Amino acid sequence: MPTNIIKHKYHISREDRNRQNKHGSFVIWFTGLSGSGKSTIASKLEQRLFKERVKTYALDGDNIRSGLNKGLKFTREDRLENNRRIAEVAKLFMDAGMITITAFISPLKEDRVQAKEIIGKDNFLEIYVNTPLEICEERDVKGFYQKARSGEIKNFTGISSPYEAPEAPDFEIKTEEESVEEAVERLYMFLQKKFKLL
Ligand code: PPS
Repeated sequence: MPTNIIKHKYHISREDRNRQNKHGSFVIWFTGLSGSGKSTIASKLEQRLFKERVKTYALDGDNIRSGLNKGLKFTREDRLENNRRIAEVAKLFMDAGMITITAFISPLKEDRVQAKEIIGKDNFLEIYVNTPLEICEERDVKGFYQKARSGEIKNFTGISSPYEAPEAPDFEIKTEEESVEEAVERLYMFLQKKFKLL
């Protein structure tokens, strides 16, 4: 850190906030291909937690890329920077007492390792939304896969840019095998067991 920057010491700690909220705070980091269902599942999980009066907040791909990370592209360098900033913001929300949910492709292991290092390994849960490329491409909700195949979109994850599947995610969702509702409920039970939410 430069010598002319001295970190401010906060008087209300994360632990103080967790005590008042009656639950811990941590980061639930979704990863998966474009169109895999990350955002849908993340959003349903957020609603489920909110319903239980859990303090929660979700950060999502397109929103962050049109605000905070406007200007970043899909080169390797920019994706790493995109994910670094997201991890830093997620950490702030976690410190503020939120169960923080992120839904970004975070395509390479290095993106997720970086995020885990920033957030802290004990506060980081990696959730792999495992939907095969063929299915994402078949769904092609935004029409991006077609554009990627024709070369209109360059560096598209899974087509012209790599995706490294997590080797040992904390939790895996196969959207071909279970519905969004089932996945969210299973994830909610997993979180409850692990963190005693309430
Ligand atoms: S990354 O790799 O983590 O930095 O990507 P992320 O910030 O999650 O952004 C992914 C969304 O951007 C749209 N998009 C692309 N995705 C992948 N590759 C390329 N080249 C690309 N261009 C635009 C796409 O809609 C992604 O949204 P999701 O929600 O994942 O489908």
